[in-house]
Amino acid sequence: MSNICAFPFRLLMEELGAGGTVSELISCHGINYKNEKTLRMLSIHPSEKNIGIQLFGESAESMAVSAKVVLDHCQPKFIDINMGCPVRKVVTKGSGSALLKDTSKLGHFFKTIKDAIDVPLTIKIRTGWDDDSLNSPEVIRIAREEGVEFVAIHGRTRTQQYKGLANWDLLEQVSKESVLPIIGNGDLHSPTLVRKRMANSNCKAFMLGRGPLRNPFIFLESYLEDGEEVNFTPGDYWEITSRLFEYNQMYTDRERTLLVMMRKHIMWFAAGLNNAGQFRNTLFKCPELDDTMNLTKDFFLSLTTAKKQLNPDEAFMTSGHG
Ligand SMILES: Cc1cc2nc3c(=O)[nH]c(=O)nc-3n(C[C@H](O)[C@H](O)[C@H](O)COP(=O)(O)O)c2cc1C
Repeated sequence: MSNICAFPFRLLMEELGAGGTVSELISCHGINYKNEKTLRMLSIHPSEKNIGIQLFGESAESMAVSAKVVLDHCQPKFIDINMGCPVRKVVTKGSGSALLKDTSKLGHFFKTIKDAIDVPLTIKIRTGWDDDSLNSPEVIRIAREEGVEFVAIHGRTRTQQYKGLANWDLLEQVSKESVLPIIGNGDLHSPTLVRKRMANSNCKAFMLGRGPLRNPFIFLESYLEDGEEVNFTPGDYWEITSRLFEYNQMYTDRERTLLVMMRKHIMWFAAGLNNAGQFRNTLFKCPELDDTMNLTKDFFLSLTTAKKQLNPDEAFMTSGHG
């Protein structure tokens, strides 16, 4: 996820039960121009296990060149192509979900990238451009012919953006008939929803985007048996926050960047806890990193419970790059 899935958060999520993670979308042109900021986005921590680097671009040749650079630079376990980003700036250049519009070009697109790399190639798509072109089965068929290994599908169309609900009936139907393993994605925002889906699905795996931002323990909780309960404590929240801080300090030494990164995650971690609203206001007014961390420690450790009141149906982050 853009501006979120650099190695600090990815590593934390793997440590908290995610089976694998993918980088934010990274421009193939930024990589090929050796843009410094773009190359920093390729950093992988040595402890990360199943990490994919996600590329976006409209030209097969530029994507292939950048994929090779990525392999030399950071050795991810797989290369993923972003074919789901609905953002106008990306789509008008022919990349992201615009790639779903003209399937006649996809064979060449996949083959050119696949031929350039010696790790698995995967794709992340939407169900189609709009309700009149729900063409994911065709995209999957072409992907399979060109050696793509698995397909993650966000169960919305491009025109839907983040509105309405992910269409899980369609995801299940597509997965059932798919010649490739499907990773289902969309609106799995609570352990209960994940467990329900895991118990009865044609998908081979599930991808969680926004859920882990506010419930970083969602992966661990999703593996619990019915009736089993683990109560994460305020101390657990402080421990993972300080761990994330430590990882972020390995990623950058820029104080301002650290402050912005940490504040964002702390507010999400705090969401739904007692007095979270008041804490958020205090944090917004705090311009110093050290003070932010001290306030956060005081907040978490002053709580008597880490039970959250979160409404999984409440609108949360309704725009993004996939
Ligand atoms: C802020 C934000 C950034 C995102 N960035 C990416 C991205 O870089 N690449 C991608 O494939 N999807 C991206 N997505 C989409 C998510 O991966 C996911 O498909 C979508 O949020 C639906 O799943 P969810 O309901 O579990 O969040 C992003 C979503 C959000 C909200």
